[in-house]
Amino acid sequence: MKTIAVLTSGGDAPGMNPCVRAVVRTALFHGDKAIGIHNGYDGLLDGLFNPMEARDVGGILQRGGTVLGTARSEEFYTEEGQARAVQMLQEKSVDQLVVIGGDGSMRGARALAARGIQVVGVPASIDNDIWGTNMSLGVDTALNTIKDAIDKLRDTASSHRRAFLIETMGRNCGYLAVMAGVIGGAEVVLIPEAEVTMAEVADSVEKAYARGKTHSIVVVAEGASIETQELAAALDNLDVGFATRVTILGHIQRGGRPSAFDRLMATRMGVKAVDALREGKTDVMMALQGRHIDTIQLEEVVSRQRAANLEYFEMCRMLAN
Ligand code: F6P
Repeated sequence: MKTIAVLTSGGDAPGMNPCVRAVVRTALFHGDKAIGIHNGYDGLLDGLFNPMEARDVGGILQRGGTVLGTARSEEFYTEEGQARAVQMLQEKSVDQLVVIGGDGSMRGARALAARGIQVVGVPASIDNDIWGTNMSLGVDTALNTIKDAIDKLRDTASSHRRAFLIETMGRNCGYLAVMAGVIGGAEVVLIPEAEVTMAEVADSVEKAYARGKTHSIVVVAEGASIETQELAAALDNLDVGFATRVTILGHIQRGGRPSAFDRLMATRMGVKAVDALREGKTDVMMALQGRHIDTIQLEEVVSRQRAANLEYFEMCRMLAN
């Protein structure tokens, strides 16, 4: 009988809970022991370990956030922190670990693997900035939240003939913004990976006004080179026809019940993460490739940068007519 621990780390993402449930119940199904570590790598260092039974993960399949709690640990990313984490895992007799989190969390998992811990990562971050997987947990739910927000904002934008600048999350990755632009019918999208000037945005919005559109939607990724409020002020000054309003969606995008897609992917990845550990795999991350869940080396994940898909960026421009 092995002891398999699971933790969630970094920004929470819808899908973390169904993944925790899948890890715990798959481990128990095989006769292993399951442990939940609270508050991410911080909790690992503080010894916040709790045995988990099947009932402990009951009723969480449909819940957003993470019942285990999460943190952005600074201490863990030091040499001493990682050495202490290994010691703690040994003290608690943990044989294998599943880390559910974003790119920073995968770097942490890699560091633990390098110190001899058997670890499998599950990608979870609404940003979709993790290399090697088509989708991370939480992205689909966040995108659905953004879609609903844009639809609502368009109603009021059309009624008042306004331009709405809608800021999405994503840190340095424009994925959410670009996809939101395509599914929300935006005039322009501003992302960190592609240069768009203030004049180009003004031109697009002004032309939309001249074409008789009743509204204009501009999606701005939080990491874009032009800041949202600054852009709104510039558009007002340039008198592009529409009056402008700004909506910063913020952490609304991180909450909510996981979508069917996220629930299913979280469950598949959780089950397969335990399967991978049982097969002796370690130092890997679960990845959605095509329709399949595969494993890829953590070293590859953390050493590469996911490139923006500019095809969707262009698609958005073309269709905003
Ligand atoms: O990584 C997820 C994310 O929501 C980013 O999109 C955003 O930049 C960041 O986390 C916000 O972090 P915090 O919740 O710590 O303010």
